[in-house]
Amino acid sequence: MGETHPNVTDITEIGLAAERGGGADAIVAVNTVKAMRISTDFRRPALGGNGMGGLSGPAIFPVAVRCVWELYESCEIPIIGCGGISSADNVVEMMMAGASAVEIGSAVIEDASIFRQITENLYRRDGGGECPEDIVGGCAHA
Ligand SMILES: Cc1cc2nc3c(=O)[nH]c(=O)nc-3n(C[C@H](O)[C@H](O)[C@H](O)COP(=O)(O)O)c2cc1C
Repeated sequence: MGETHPNVTDITEIGLAAERGGGADAIVAVNTVKAMRISTDFRRPALGGNGMGGLSGPAIFPVAVRCVWELYESCEIPIIGCGGISSADNVVEMMMAGASAVEIGSAVIEDASIFRQITENLYRRDGGGECPEDIVGGCAHA
């Protein structure tokens, strides 16, 4: 499995390197987005280490969709979409970008019942009759 980080100029280079050079069976995209906060009270970086940290959750969803879309355009192996997913609609959007499966991280911290909610809503959508293979990458790519 190759895990791709969004903090690169061209994520397809990393995806292709994992697929061709690394022999990866699938790609997970994305991990957290490099970010920083500065405490205005203490007048110094607020996060540990060098003051930087990884941003996750809904704010990074559009970044993740873009990365999955670009990887789907260039790679053959399956893509597992991750980053800011918190609803059934987000799951469908990720599939349209090209994800064959998804991961959910931060939303679980907010609400542990997120998997049940998303599953119920996914199967409720459009009568629940749409085949996943028809959605993955299908409509959002030329
Ligand atoms: C508290 C926390 C711990 C994490 N630990 C790791 C880790 O150890 N290794 C890793 O590759 N990614 C780690 N991640 C990144 C997640 O796997 C995921 O890629 C990222 O949070 C984006 O998804 P999300 O917006 O659904 O959380 C962590 C994320 C969070 C919020």
